[in-house]
Amino acid sequence: MLTFSIAKHLKARSLLPSSTYFIQRTMSTMKAVVVEEYGGLDKLIYKDIEKPTASKDSVVIKNHIAGDAGEVTEVGEGVTDFKVGDRVVHLAGSGYAEYTEAPTSTVEKITHDISYETATAAAIQGLTALTLVRDGYPVKKDDYILVHAAAGGVGLLLCQLGKHLGAHVIGTASTDEKCALAKENGAEFTINSSKEDIVQRVNEITNGVGVHASLDGVGKATFDISLASTRRLGTLITFGNASGPVPPVNLSVLTQKNLKLMRPTLYNYLATREESRRWYDELFALIKQGVLKFHIHKVYDLKDAQQAQKDIQDRVTTGKLLLRP
Ligand SMILES: NC(=O)c1ccc[n+]([C@@H]2O[C@H](COP(=O)([O-])OP(=O)(O)OC[C@H]3O[C@@H](n4cnc5c(N)ncnc54)[C@H](OP(=O)(O)O)[C@@H]3O)[C@@H](O)[C@H]2O)c1
Repeated sequence: MLTFSIAKHLKARSLLPSSTYFIQRTMSTMKAVVVEEYGGLDKLIYKDIEKPTASKDSVVIKNHIAGDAGEVTEVGEGVTDFKVGDRVVHLAGSGYAEYTEAPTSTVEKITHDISYETATAAAIQGLTALTLVRDGYPVKKDDYILVHAAAGGVGLLLCQLGKHLGAHVIGTASTDEKCALAKENGAEFTINSSKEDIVQRVNEITNGVGVHASLDGVGKATFDISLASTRRLGTLITFGNASGPVPPVNLSVLTQKNLKLMRPTLYNYLATREESRRWYDELFALIKQGVLKFHIHKVYDLKDAQQAQKDIQDRVTTGKLLLRP
């Protein structure tokens, strides 16, 4: 960027031929975190890469928070619904960078009363929690809902939404501090998974009947626990792999209680512009009503992406982690 500015300045004084300006411009770079090969955390490399440019139906976004939220700095020639300066949130991928090129189908505008920090937390974790309780299992008043990793990013939002919908939320977490945070965010009951037997406690709380729905982002370590905790005709949604992917399941395990099993991904809820806008509208309305509040664990510099990832793996985080380019 600096190179580009200097070149522009010199060209304005006719100190550089126009071809030089063009070369400098096309060589514009940005900072990004890239993965060039599989491996451990040391494969998250912070380096200079070429800055993207807009193509026909895309925009370039300067990420204020890596991954999800920023300001449009360039629009493609076929783009009519966005302009330079728009504040937006996007789920375009390639977001661990100063700039992201995003197809407009992955971009939504945000109003000035929603901060970039909130928009970033809302984009993935908020929409995930919302789609789980509205579509995955439409939570109703007085339902019992089991939420694993209840102090995590999605977990805290599930606690808030569950309470808002009138359900009894049972949250699990690995420390007393995390359990306390889950309670502050709407869990009526908490289970310390390091000390207590989750299935036994769920049975105590639900008089042996089990929960209407288990919302499980932990995966491998908790699948059987969720299965045992869900009541007859209940729903088990396994939506994350924090402890590793769930091994192949023999469908006959569902027969004993006529359970419904779902393995969703957020992106299938956002496949069309109309669907995407509907979910974002509902999400932003809940934020503006004060129903959803985002707990930011920490804002890291983008160059510290390895540390952020390590903290997640070490299970020392609560809520949302943000990376600032
Ligand atoms: N399907 C989708 O579209 C979708 C969308 C968003 C997120 N997800 C997934 O949902 C899961 C939760 O997301 P999140 O953003 O809320 O994550 P998060 O806040 O970082 O939650 C992870 C939590 O999982 C628990 N955990 C249990 N076993 C673990 C292990 N072996 N290693 C690390 N953590 C473990 C930890 O809580 P305790 O210490 O309290 O047990 C940890 O804090 C992730 O797997 C994520 O990839 C899926």
